[in-house]
Order: sequence, then structure tokens, then C-alpha cells
Amino acid sequence: MIVCVCRRVSDKTIAQCARAGMGFDDIQLELGVATQCGRCEGCARQVVAECAPGQAIAHLQLHTAEQARHAALA
Ligand code: FES
Repeated sequence: MIVCVCRRVSDKTIAQCARAGMGFDDIQLELGVATQCGRCEGCARQVVAECAPGQAIAHLQLHTAEQARHAALA
């Protein structure tokens, strides 16, 4: 699913970066996530937190109404 509609960045792309050890700030700089309207920041941060090295389980399901709204807009 697309997390950042403005920059068309998916949860998979964010997860790949997070698994590679990038933090939110690095991903934001690299991909432009949450650099325009900013509505995706919470969702993007959650994906990063779930997929950061050291997390036992990384899943990419919808967790919040905000994420569902972003998915519906994509
Ligand atoms: S949805 Fe990511 S900056 Fe607008």
C-alpha cells in the first residue's frame, strides 16, 4: 500500500529501508516521505518501528483508521 501519497512511497519501500538499518530521518531524506503535507508521518514512523532490525515480527497490515484512509486515497 502507498503510505505517502504525495511522494508515492509504499510501505514495502519504507520497510526495506528500515530493515537495512535506516531510521525515519534517513528514509525521509532519501525518499521524501512526510516532506509535503505530512499526513503520512505517523504511518511511516510506525512501519519503520515495526521493521527496524531487532523487531521480532515485521508486519504490514493496516493498524489505524489513518492508515486505512491513506490506503483508500491511493
Ligand atoms: S502523504 Fe506523505 S507528505 Fe503527503
